[in-house]
Amino acid sequence: MPTALRRAALAALFGLSLTGFAAAQNGSVNIYSYRSPDLIAPLLDRFEEETGIKPVVLFANNGLIERAAAEGENSPADLILTVDIGNLALAKSEGVTQPIPEAALENVPDAYRDAEGHWTALSLRARVFYVSKDRVDAQALSYADIADPEWKGRVCTRSGQHVYNIGLIASRIAHMGEDGARTWLEGVRDNLTGAPTGNDRAQVKSIYSGECDLAIGNTYYMGLMLNNEEEPEQKDWAASVRIIYPDADGTGTHVNVSGAILAKHAPNKDNAEKLIEFLLSEEAQEIYASTNHEFPVVPGVPLSETVASWGELKADDTPLTEIAALRDAASRLVDETRFDEGPQN
Ligand SMILES: [Fe+2]
Repeated sequence: MPTALRRAALAALFGLSLTGFAAAQNGSVNIYSYRSPDLIAPLLDRFEEETGIKPVVLFANNGLIERAAAEGENSPADLILTVDIGNLALAKSEGVTQPIPEAALENVPDAYRDAEGHWTALSLRARVFYVSKDRVDAQALSYADIADPEWKGRVCTRSGQHVYNIGLIASRIAHMGEDGARTWLEGVRDNLTGAPTGNDRAQVKSIYSGECDLAIGNTYYMGLMLNNEEEPEQKDWAASVRIIYPDADGTGTHVNVSGAILAKHAPNKDNAEKLIEFLLSEEAQEIYASTNHEFPVVPGVPLSETVASWGELKADDTPLTEIAALRDAASRLVDETRFDEGPQN
């Protein structure tokens, strides 16, 4: 039984409240998490074993940053775990963060942390092309290439307004300017197989079933599908595609992050700092790599075998803060081009 569950069971058995039980240990740490319980459980179990600090998790798909902001000084949140630079930047601009002490962030490259420590990345993911093994010969492609008419009727992706695509489109604006990015987005739109629908994994299924030849998606979904014992049909979908790192020969592939913020009114600040330090330790970074097929943010930590098999990632070095600042412009472009309605020409 996982430690957290065992604690809950023991607490129930002895009629103790969970907080009462935790108080007898080294205290607790309250986490607002957008990241799924399955993913973070192995990390939090190890943290509790090593420190005696009990993690208490509130999980939700959205609204946690807004919730912490609304709770203000009374917020129980010690830290927030989330994905996407947009959410991390939002947390900072909503005023729910405070600087993470420098010592905890010493292993994090500058590109992947806020200059003032208001957020840090914990793992990296690249937004890549999944291409059909049978119907695509190209070995190298750029993001610009998929706006070319040769891809007409062959490209698929989830909604342009999804945070993962907003990050990518914002990075296109950083490289091409807003007009260049608009032209690019119109080109991609007109190459779509139809209106964007489904999540990243659904695009792989579309390639498997022959509806689409090239999809835009995050790296870790491929790692998760290729190793999915619970839904083995996903292994078949994934086996029909290979990964191309766009712009590997040029400015590099767009990378986004998962990350953490230290809550402004953290009631258990010391424990929250200990947890962030732990999540950036070699041990925790290896768990991110091996269980979720993400790229460790701390240099030198090994990749999962699956991810390593895709070759080396050359990450686009556009600062994530610049990407975050262009997100609104990216969202406007998606609306203006009516990207989510599919091809117009
Ligand atoms: Fe995801």
